[in-house]
Amino acid sequence: MTSVSPILTLRDIRVTFPDNNGGLRALDGVSFETFPREFVAVIGPSGSGKTTLLRTVAGLLAPTNGEVRFAHPSRPRIGMVFQQSNLMPWRTVIQNITLPLEMDGNSQARAKAQELIELVGLQGFEDNWPRELSGGMAQRVAIARALIHDPDLLLLDEPFGSLDALTRERMGAELSRIWQARQKTVIMVTHSIGEALFLADRVLVLSARPGKIKLDLKVGLPRPRQDEMRYTTRFGKLARQLKDAIE
Ligand SMILES: Nc1ncnc2c1ncn2[C@@H]1O[C@H](COP(=O)(O)OP(=O)(O)O)[C@@H](O)[C@H]1O
Ligand SMILES: [Mg+2]
Repeated sequence: MTSVSPILTLRDIRVTFPDNNGGLRALDGVSFETFPREFVAVIGPSGSGKTTLLRTVAGLLAPTNGEVRFAHPSRPRIGMVFQQSNLMPWRTVIQNITLPLEMDGNSQARAKAQELIELVGLQGFEDNWPRELSGGMAQRVAIARALIHDPDLLLLDEPFGSLDALTRERMGAELSRIWQARQKTVIMVTHSIGEALFLADRVLVLSARPGKIKLDLKVGLPRPRQDEMRYTTRFGKLARQLKDAIE
């Protein structure tokens, strides 16, 4: 066993939203650690608090109880990608990617964006408009935009949820490649068991509301992951374990 210390620790997180009925408990007693360069997938039924969990980690939401602790002395840089790419329609691909840096007045924005455009495979589309992109391409732009700050932690909320199955598999393979190249720590919400297993080192299964961690599954499949792996007995067994935990 290595003794790497976690970059993120959640301890006994509870999130209750006010309602007319004593409060809606979205998360209850969620505790886990995330280690540097780890790829963690979060899976669970709709309404189990997955988005709430990411928002809590991002600091967009204060937990009702419990603690989110980072190993960094200051809050780490966080990049987020949502189900919809949320691109600015009046800005080109490259202008969308540089946006977060322009807000900081960073003069190297364009050079950094160009590098990311290559990383996500969008060469030649720098000056296209969002409306000219397919769903998969738009999500690549969103991923590049999230990476431009060189975040320590990448939070992905069903980033491929709006894509068709084949595009989704291709994007998964791309994300795996990007993650390997950039060595980021990733927490990704998905509702696809196959996607979680293909990408992650660990899969956290949330129970139905209020979300608790029902299973923390170590994936342990060799890397780099190959497409054929999806059809192996080992993959099938892990998928079965996840499916049983979700149901
Ligand atoms: N801002 C909010 N105010 C009130 N209720 C919320 C809010 N955000 C989420 N919820 C409720 O909390 C529960 C968990 O939501 P969410 O985290 O979006 O689940 P998931 O992403 O797993 O589908 C749901 O019942 C949802 O309606
Ligand atoms: Mg959600």
